[in-house]
Amino acid sequence: MSQAKTIWVTQPSLAPLKEFLPYLRQIWKTGVMTHNGPLMQRLERELAAFLGVPDVACVANGTCAMQVAIRALDLAGEIITTPFSFIATANVIAWERCVPVFVDIDPATWNLDPDLIEAAITPRTSAILPVHVFGRPCDTERIDGIARRHGLKVVYDAAHALGVQVAGQSVLLRGDVGCASFHATKIFNTCEGGACVSADPALMARIRRLRFFGFDERKEIVDGGMNAKMTEISAALGLANLAHLPEVMATRRRKYELYRHELADCPHVRFQAYRPDEYNFCYMPVLFDSEERLLAAERELQRRHIVPRRYFHPALDTLGIFGQRDALPISRRVAACILCLPLYTKLADAQIKRICAIVATC
Ligand SMILES: Cc1ncc(COP(=O)(O)O)c(C=O)c1O
Repeated sequence: MSQAKTIWVTQPSLAPLKEFLPYLRQIWKTGVMTHNGPLMQRLERELAAFLGVPDVACVANGTCAMQVAIRALDLAGEIITTPFSFIATANVIAWERCVPVFVDIDPATWNLDPDLIEAAITPRTSAILPVHVFGRPCDTERIDGIARRHGLKVVYDAAHALGVQVAGQSVLLRGDVGCASFHATKIFNTCEGGACVSADPALMARIRRLRFFGFDERKEIVDGGMNAKMTEISAALGLANLAHLPEVMATRRRKYELYRHELADCPHVRFQAYRPDEYNFCYMPVLFDSEERLLAAERELQRRHIVPRRYFHPALDTLGIFGQRDALPISRRVAACILCLPLYTKLADAQIKRICAIVATC
């Protein structure tokens, strides 16, 4: 496939190079490349201000953010989670010696179904780890309420949800910890990166120790930590990119709405249920009426050098690597029938119209 004319599912949103270079000059001048450096501290402050949250702790990636959160909350035993997610969501649970217990999703929002959570709680359950999939917030009121009633913690996988607000507040503040990803494919990127957000200062202090091998401010090892530090180069890219985030979000929203307009009369695709003021338009997922039609559309697009992605297929409970092979019917069907179409700021409107015409005729 020719690289030049290929339309990939996404492309990173990058600030102009000339805005990145002054930060790099600063790194070259000071020689500080990592270890709680000044650029990472500045990025934490600027992100907290942008999001309207009291504190942000940056880490090496979104996967580490969840791992550190699980460790900071001393979780053990079973953690209830969704099978409709990226593999990292279940992996971190297993890596932290807990057992993922998969519960099915809501057919309209594609998020963990709050109606099914309580039936999965056992005396071994310590937490719920839902995902705001494609930036669509979970029903956090109900999930956090269930957790409170049963004495459980909640860690939200908010890898997709940066910039999403619920009732005027960042969704990252819901639950005990919100974990964001700043991977190159995300709406805001630091190349690789992520962050934990919590309103609890003691928990944030522990997260900061755990991301740095368990060292405290006096450089004494006081906790069983890991290496989850964000580098200064990543923080530099984050600072340059953050200045453009509002414009990136507005452009993606316009492009998402163009897709919806172009596919409005297409009888064989449906969309994720969302509220426009509580969504960040970070992906363009469409749900086909059958897997056969999805495969036909994928083939037709690829033949024309357009590369959509099957996020997230197959459903995690069907992998068999987490010791559970439940037949959770909604997530299995949704995972089989969702295709994410290309969406990024530089994608031309004419390209979107072409993609929609292909999808509509499959
Ligand atoms: C739902 C979800 N959770 C977690 C992650 C992991 O994030 P990272 O790649 O920053 O480790 C991803 C990554 O793409 C994701 O899509």
